[in-house]
Amino acid sequence: MNIWNNLPKPFLILAPMEGVTDIAFRQVIAHAGRPDLFFTEFTNVSSYASEKGRHNALERLEIAPSDSPIIAQIWGKNPEHFAEISSALESLGFSGIDLNFGCPDKNVNRTGGGAAMIKTPELAVECYRNARSHTALPVSIKTRLGWSQPEEFREWLPVLLHEHPAALTVHLRTKKEMSKVPAHYELIPEIVELRNQISPDTKLIINGDIKDRAHALELHTKYPEVDGFMIGRGVFQNPYCFTDHRPTRAELMELLNLHLDLYEKASSHTLPYEPLKHFFKIYINNFPGASDIRAKLMETHSVAEARAVLGASMIEDNVL
Ligand SMILES: Cc1cc2nc3c(=O)[nH]c(=O)nc-3n(C[C@H](O)[C@H](O)[C@H](O)COP(=O)(O)O)c2cc1C
Repeated sequence: MNIWNNLPKPFLILAPMEGVTDIAFRQVIAHAGRPDLFFTEFTNVSSYASEKGRHNALERLEIAPSDSPIIAQIWGKNPEHFAEISSALESLGFSGIDLNFGCPDKNVNRTGGGAAMIKTPELAVECYRNARSHTALPVSIKTRLGWSQPEEFREWLPVLLHEHPAALTVHLRTKKEMSKVPAHYELIPEIVELRNQISPDTKLIINGDIKDRAHALELHTKYPEVDGFMIGRGVFQNPYCFTDHRPTRAELMELLNLHLDLYEKASSHTLPYEPLKHFFKIYINNFPGASDIRAKLMETHSVAEARAVLGASMIEDNVL
């Protein structure tokens, strides 16, 4: 079964976000209201290929039953390593493989991976073909419009579309634009046209500044030929963004407690405590006293300490 042919139209995806969309957070989102498809954080193909890195790569690729269907996102620049990891992903429970050709991080680009692939299109194609020929899973690509100029998409996207990937996600900005300018929605009609002409069976997914389900449906009304919409940072504003629900403060606290439970379960092997602190503002925000509670939480060193702070705050505020 090709997962990309079994999704509603339009479908919604939780964007891959390094340090965010780990196994614990994906389960939190599944509880709040799941997208049609999850992606993992990106995993480095060369890390998987090395004796030293494989254990860590496999931990990053661990999935929970509520994640399914889920796509494994991978990045790197060594074509043989793309082949090696791709041959393993089906047995790990994934429904597809996505190649990251869009990450703007300096450390990633310095190695030739992520958005640097835009500057080496022949290598990008070789990596794609190697992945493709070593798996029965559908292979998709996530990228940006170009390296420095939005107009580069007219050359770059056809290179990818001529490979007929199962799906193509376009983050509507260049690498240089990072996330500092509004997404170039005005280019959607031209991108749709390229897809229709070169690879009509490739699902087209649009990404960038989409807040929530209502926003995605609004965009779909305007651009009905786009197959799917991917939401990243919108989940920080509202973890229920894949539904039309606006959570109460009590529901957000319940979600935070679930996150702590799941994190504790997973932290036996992979998840250190400090990164968990990035999540607190998702749940504790926009009410009187929220910043004080967050400040106290930032001083904590364990899930148990965080629970103690929350317990005390709830009694003080009579939250529940
Ligand atoms: C913290 C963070 C981590 C990210 N990590 C990844 C990643 O691992 N793979 C990827 O393809 N994109 C990654 N991205 C980019 C997002 O998937 C998405 O393309 C970007 O945030 C734009 O969408 P948005 O405006 O809905 O947030 C990351 C973004 C953020 C904010």
